Amino acid sequence: MEYRFMGRTGLKVSELCMGTQTFGWGADEAASHAMADRFVEAGGNFFDTSNIYNEGQSETILGSWLKRRGNRSQLVIATKVFFPTGKGPNDTGLSRKHIFEQVEISLRRLNTDYIDLYQTHCFDSSTPLDETLQALNDLVRAGKVRYIGASNYTPGQLMKAIMLSQQHGWARFDCIQPEYSLLVRSTEWELLPMCQEEGIGVIAWSPLAGGWLTGKYHRNAPPPPDSRVGRGDRWDDLPEQRENELTWRTIDVLREIAQERGKTPAQVALNWVLHKPGVTAPIFGARTLDQLEQNLGCTGWQLTPEEVARLDEASAIPLPSPYNFIARYTRRRS
Ligand SMILES: NC(=O)c1ccc[n+]([C@@H]2O[C@H](COP(=O)([O-])OP(=O)(O)OC[C@H]3O[C@@H](n4cnc5c(N)ncnc54)[C@H](OP(=O)(O)O)[C@@H]3O)[C@@H](O)[C@H]2O)c1
Repeated sequence: MEYRFMGRTGLKVSELCMGTQTFGWGADEAASHAMADRFVEAGGNFFDTSNIYNEGQSETILGSWLKRRGNRSQLVIATKVFFPTGKGPNDTGLSRKHIFEQVEISLRRLNTDYIDLYQTHCFDSSTPLDETLQALNDLVRAGKVRYIGASNYTPGQLMKAIMLSQQHGWARFDCIQPEYSLLVRSTEWELLPMCQEEGIGVIAWSPLAGGWLTGKYHRNAPPPPDSRVGRGDRWDDLPEQRENELTWRTIDVLREIAQERGKTPAQVALNWVLHKPGVTAPIFGARTLDQLEQNLGCTGWQLTPEEVARLDEASAIPLPSPYNFIARYTRRRS
């Protein structure tokens, strides 16, 4: 496992981030702890969770593991705030009140007195951006949070936030967490180059498109019953969201390359994200130790430029305006 700087910061994170949304959803406490142990044994130091995953179970299970292993200082723990935690009018969003309440709850569940990377889980268009940014800055100054990040922001929203933080001398977002995989490539249009220019780390969620890029789903065949699609328990991974000709074409090429290289489709799909310019780490998911073991095999080797080009071509989506116009007239710098 290699380590990379998170954007322009001095923080080094493993090139794979372990997503813990399965902790308490498919993986019980013992299975989750076993996966966390194996990830660390393989050199991983970076974990991502959220205050809302499985009603807090994900944070609680990660927290019980941290306490038992006593390895907190060796690890980089990222969590998030935004989505509803209750029915009250203030139990959601990025207001100062909700952020301050939720950070304390996350700290308690995680059995820690600081969070390495505290992320807003989604842009909140009903709270003034400066209210959110000032609240986050106060958490950094209070020592409860080391770095701040954002997830699910447009490039414009992220840039506006960075400028505002710089203008006020506040801690700025040093990391963004967008969806990015062979099946979701709009992240490349603007966000990835912008983050490279600004020194912002990029950690990509659902790099296996929730399991679609593992090769376990087939055209005109029922999904495995123990899979996300088979169980039907997450709307954004259901066939109506993911299934189309582009998906199947991409999976066909993924399977071909996997076979040629003696790797699994999941390892090829993760390797593709891992080496895309601007990416700090894919945040992969695993429900079982076997899946985790397989996914760890995406490191230590690299797809050739020709293989990357074949995957790029199979998964390409047409550039919309104005990106297509700009691309046509931009002069290439050597
Ligand atoms: N910021 C956000 O809005 C956001 C949104 C989503 C996720 N995330 C973060 O990203 C992390 C990863 O998301 P994700 O779980 O959707 O990622 P993913 O890596 O795209 O999908 C993981 C899922 O695919 C299946 N899988 C994984 N490895 C496999 C293998 N080798 N063989 C067969 N199946 C395999 C498993 O599901 P089954 O076995 O159940 O089919 C597993 O739970 C989350 O834990 C979370 O930290 C963030």
